[in-house]
Amino acid sequence: MEDKSAQRLLPKHLALIMDGNGRWAKLRGLERSAGHRAGAENVYTIVSECCRLGIGYLTLYAFSSENWNRPKAEIQVLFSLLTDFLKRFLPTLQEQNIRLNALGDLEGLPLPQRAALNHVMHVTAQNSTMVLNLAINYGARQEIVRAVQAIIQEGLSASEITEGVLAAHLYTHGQPDPDLVIRTSGEQRLSNYLLYQSAYSEFYFTPTFWPDFGVAELHAALDDFATRNRRFGKTPEQISATREF
Ligand code: FPP
Repeated sequence: MEDKSAQRLLPKHLALIMDGNGRWAKLRGLERSAGHRAGAENVYTIVSECCRLGIGYLTLYAFSSENWNRPKAEIQVLFSLLTDFLKRFLPTLQEQNIRLNALGDLEGLPLPQRAALNHVMHVTAQNSTMVLNLAINYGARQEIVRAVQAIIQEGLSASEITEGVLAAHLYTHGQPDPDLVIRTSGEQRLSNYLLYQSAYSEFYFTPTFWPDFGVAELHAALDDFATRNRRFGKTPEQISATREF
């Protein structure tokens, strides 16, 4: 069978907001934790498919700085799913040559999660097919504030601070900006996610809850992305002129 994905323009960097686990569970009369478990299972599927397709960077919003406001029991479920995921998925990360990278304030995480993340980041550090960024205890405003603080501590003068300097102090330093941001569950907002990096990202919103966002819908989103006309502030004429040369 012809693999359509071989010909279409793929995002170099895809960022996902995995939303709707709770509503997925509620619809089925289940506890929210069952939704998170189903959501975590879907992470395995989507990461492997992105890697198979050749997407170089995949960023997943696993736990925001604001998620600390959730009930303690739910936070515990999310953290225990995270350590399970890191343990269970490590052989696949190695097999598929995926490097794990965490975005966020790891110091603020409980010790077992911090240790598990550091271990997996360390042992996958040389992998080169795909970078899997897990945004954990992550908030984009906090990320920008932290970058500004680091720049000031380094003693840079105002005129030395450029867009490149700021980008180099973000958690995503050295990585391309996300070309496409997908949010599931019908919500249409960024929720403090990659605010600086998504300045020119394309957005794809779907009503599907995250646990149901499977390979077919990922492909639908990627097909849609391939039809987008990205101009980065230029006119359509300028864009077609660059294409001709
Ligand atoms: C939103 O659903 C999802 C989260 C708060 C976190 C995403 C977590 C997972 C997919 C599971 C664990 C992750 C990993 C990487 C193993 P929600 O609870 O806000 O859903 P709702 O809006 O329907 O209530």
